[in-house]
This record gives sequence, C-alpha cells and structure tokens, in this order.
Amino acid sequence: MAAGSGIAVTFTEELVGGASVDAYGIALRPQTLKLCKAADAILFGAVGGPKWDDAAPQSELRPGSALLGLRKGLGLFANLRPVRVDAAMASTSVLRPERVRGVDLMVVRELTGGLYFGQPKKTEKIREGGQQYQRATDTMVYTTPEIERIAHVAFRAAQSRRKKVTSIDKANVLENGVLWRDVVTSVGKQYPEIALDHMFVDNAAMQLVLRPTQFDVMLCENMFGDILSDEAAALAGSLGMLPSASLGATSGGRTFGFYEPAGGTAPDIAGKNLANPIAQILSAALMLRYSFGLNDAAAAVEGAVAKAISSGYRTGDIMSPSDASAKRVGTSGMGEVIAACV
Ligand code: IPM
Ligand code: MG
Repeated sequence: MAAGSGIAVTFTEELVGGASVDAYGIALRPQTLKLCKAADAILFGAVGGPKWDDAAPQSELRPGSALLGLRKGLGLFANLRPVRVDAAMASTSVLRPERVRGVDLMVVRELTGGLYFGQPKKTEKIREGGQQYQRATDTMVYTTPEIERIAHVAFRAAQSRRKKVTSIDKANVLENGVLWRDVVTSVGKQYPEIALDHMFVDNAAMQLVLRPTQFDVMLCENMFGDILSDEAAALAGSLGMLPSASLGATSGGRTFGFYEPAGGTAPDIAGKNLANPIAQILSAALMLRYSFGLNDAAAAVEGAVAKAISSGYRTGDIMSPSDASAKRVGTSGMGEVIAACV
C-alpha cells in the first residue's frame, strides 16, 4: 500500500479469532489488545468459521468474541459502513438496476451498546412445576450519552455528504426506541443544516429494497445496524464490497480506528483464491482517511477500485451472467488490477 506513495506505514501482525484459538487457546489475548491500543490504527481481516462454531456465544473460544472484545476494549463506539452502487455495478445487484443505480448511503451503527453488551446476558436452567427448561436473556440498554455521541458522528458525517440523517428505531414498541428518538432529535437541533427524519426499523428494511436512493446517513443502534448493513451491502451486489470503519473518540485531532470488511471469512471458499478482496481494500482506504487524514491517498485507492470495476474485472460474487464484457479474476488477480490502477 505504501509503495510509491511516499507514505511510510509500519505494520505489526497479530493473530486473533480462530487462528488465535488454535495457537493460544483463546480468541483475543490480553497482550494482543494491548498491542492494538499502542497502534494508530488496526487493519483487520475477518473472523469465524465452522471449526469454532460449537463454542457458546460468550465463550472466549468463539472467534466473534475477539471482535466484540476489541470493539469494547478499544472504545470503538462508531461503526461506519458506506455503500455505493456505481453505474458499472448496478447490473450485479439483486435488485433491478434502475432501483439501485446511484445508491450512496452510509450506515452509522452504534457498536458498543445495546443488545450486544447489555447486562444481564445469560442462559439459565429453570425448574418450574416439575418441568425443566432453559431461559436465555439478552438485555437492551442505552444511556443518553451513548446515544448522543453516536448521533454526533452521524450528523457530522452527513455534513460532508448529502446532509440527510435517517434515524432508525423501534419507538412504537421499545423504551430504547423512545429514548433513541428523543436524544437524536435534540442532538439534531445543533445541526440545523441537516435534514433529520425517523423511521421504524421494519419500514427501513423495506424502504432499503423499495427505494434505497432516499437514504444518505442511516443512524442505527447496534443490532439494527448489524442487520441493515448486511441488507444494504446486498444492494451493491455482495457483502464482499462493504468496508467498515470502527472509530473511537477523537483526541488531539487523531482518530483511533479499526478497519475491517463487514462480511465474515467465507469459509466455504477459503484458500481457493475466489474471495472478493474489495471490502478489505476499501477498509484500508477508510483507514487512510479517518485515522491518518490522508484524504488524497484514500481517494486514490477508492478510485482504483472504481476503475477496476468499470473496466469489467469481477470476482465470482459480483459476476453477472448477463454481462458479456466481464473479466473473471480471483482474489489476487483483483488485488493486482486495483494496485495497478492506484
Ligand atoms: C459484523 C458481524 C459481527 C457483528 C459478528 C461477527 C460478531 O456480523 O461486524 O457485522 O455482529 O457485529
Ligand atoms: Mg454483521
């Protein structure tokens, strides 16, 4: 990445997730977290796979637990997931091209609160009237400061975009939804230039497939953002296209960030040189922008991805059978094309 750009990047590598379970018996070692804290930014691959699927959700043997531990441990409360469908990609989408052409939205997902982290969170054995069964509890908790800080991230993101925030909640059912809507509305008063509207999450899921171009910034709590960002990625044809940035608080003008493709490890195609590397590459571009302030370098990488796509290069996941001009490439082939375009 740094070659020829005049930008020097020092990389330190660490194992995490399943690879760390295999090597050290735990998905996230304390020293790995410490090393991450000492870095300016984390460029992350993906975690998970059938080999480790049997461990309980909260278990330290579960690869996803490393991700949650890193997010919480590094204070990464803001997750940004930009989704763009440029003209060349419109035919790859699951939706009709005229519906997705021009989609340019960003899911701003709260990442360290809500159902993912609320206490109590447990599974217990219940004995009742001679019957035995299990009961699982997850708790959804949000505080005013947690909602305020993520709302500020969304409004600031909208300032450099199309100046619209759609806040997603379930205020017709959940206490959390009511508080969410109140707090977002009051934070919004500090941004008079940004248009704010509110949408129930079920309607938002439907609107994403009916009229996705209406969205600019979608502000979501943790779980809703998890679900809607996968749905939004499908608009762009594949989860393999969706980068993500997870940011903490900005201090001294620097934003510590964690950059990862929004998808998983795609274990079914592991080691076959088939996976789409674009989400990973675009995540590195987000790192250049948000943590290093290298906007031109970020734009060069993003431009190179757009060029590779418009030149017809496709990995299998974004290959449309109707597109005769498409050139099929593997993971490394796509990487080489993009690098050459940079
Ligand atoms: C994501 C993933 C994770 C999440 C999993 C792997 C824990 O789905 O980053 O969207 O649910 O946050
Ligand atoms: Mg997800």
